[in-house]
Amino acid sequence: MSHRQALSLGTDALDVIVELLAQVDAGSGFYDRLCAALCRLASVERAGLMLYDDARRLVVPVGSHGIDPGLLAEVYGTLEETPIAQVALAEDRVVEVTGDLEEWIPARYARFSGVDTLTCTPVSAGGRWLGVIFADRGGGRFELTDDERHAMWTLGKTAALAASVQIATSQQGRARLLQSRIDLARDIHERVVQRLFGVSLVLGSDKGLSDDARQRCINEIQAALGDLRAALERPLAPPTIDTGATLREELTRLGRHYKDLPLELHWEDGVEVPEELEPLAQSVLAEALRNADKHAHPTSVRVHVARTDGTFVLEVRNDGVLPGSRGTGMGLRLAAVEALQRGGVVEFGPEDGSAWRVRLVLPVGEDSER
Ligand SMILES: Nc1ncnc2c1ncn2[C@@H]1O[C@H](COP(=O)(O)OP(=O)(O)OP(=O)(O)O)[C@@H](O)[C@H]1O
Ligand SMILES: [Mg+2]
Repeated sequence: MSHRQALSLGTDALDVIVELLAQVDAGSGFYDRLCAALCRLASVERAGLMLYDDARRLVVPVGSHGIDPGLLAEVYGTLEETPIAQVALAEDRVVEVTGDLEEWIPARYARFSGVDTLTCTPVSAGGRWLGVIFADRGGGRFELTDDERHAMWTLGKTAALAASVQIATSQQGRARLLQSRIDLARDIHERVVQRLFGVSLVLGSDKGLSDDARQRCINEIQAALGDLRAALERPLAPPTIDTGATLREELTRLGRHYKDLPLELHWEDGVEVPEELEPLAQSVLAEALRNADKHAHPTSVRVHVARTDGTFVLEVRNDGVLPGSRGTGMGLRLAAVEALQRGGVVEFGPEDGSAWRVRLVLPVGEDSER
């Protein structure tokens, strides 16, 4: 490449990055545009960006170019089974591998991809490993020039910048969440508990209740109920990340991720997930499967999706609960709070000895009635 070409690639990259950053707030499509820019600047044909989603504790595809998004959505994996990503992130450089891809990526992809050379760009900032971008020229061998490699590395940093902004926002969200829990506990204690304590004193007295005292008790209990309701209306759960995927797609992807879970799906005919309930349904599903993997050795994990009496129902039931796995986690309780805010419930608990059930029931709006 001539000096002039290199220079134009350099300024081009800068232009592209400035343009990308100008639209970073435009939300959806940002990572797709970034992948498209990477393909253009580094003369590759296909690129897919994967980020680690802290909430789901999974690697998720967030953007691509030149790849069928449906195909990418099926991709799953962990850093442990993807050495190319480990090297890219540990050494903070774009890694190119040619030939034996099985050494570098999970065997399930190495075999079917028909790719000779694959590149992996780190998405990391300040020592935090956020994800990677895979790219290739649609098969065939190639070598990147220094400028192409540099453009890719820089776009990796751009992706990292955008991802860290998102993470910072959700961490602030989490800090606020903790604060609002403390406020809630204090509120319930100061208002509701105090009122009820007053009522219990009156009711517990030896003397008979005067009409006046009875009325005061009723008023106090009603006020306490009002306070409780108001306290519970606050948003307490962190917002769920919307990956744009549907429950069905998420089920396939999670099924591949937890490959040792014997998943059975019973999806009742004609039942669709109302769009506004998708993120919650997906996060309950993810939590239920994570739990089945973590707290049980199941021989069956049944996922049941149904519609009954104006409600949407998602149920996950697994057997093989490990004895003594009583934990004090937050996963299900958070899901329950999130469901409450949507007027629904999450019930969970042991069933028939060694089974465990999680059931999400949500009211469905008129418009989404089918
Ligand atoms: N599928 C399951 N099989 C057996 N026990 C379960 C299952 N799901 C949940 N539990 C029990 O319920 C407890 C609470 O689950 P929850 O998801 O709220 O917390 P966690 O998984 O322990 O931690 P966290 O979700 O916060 O990482 C678990 O610790 C476990 O004892
Ligand atoms: Mg859990």
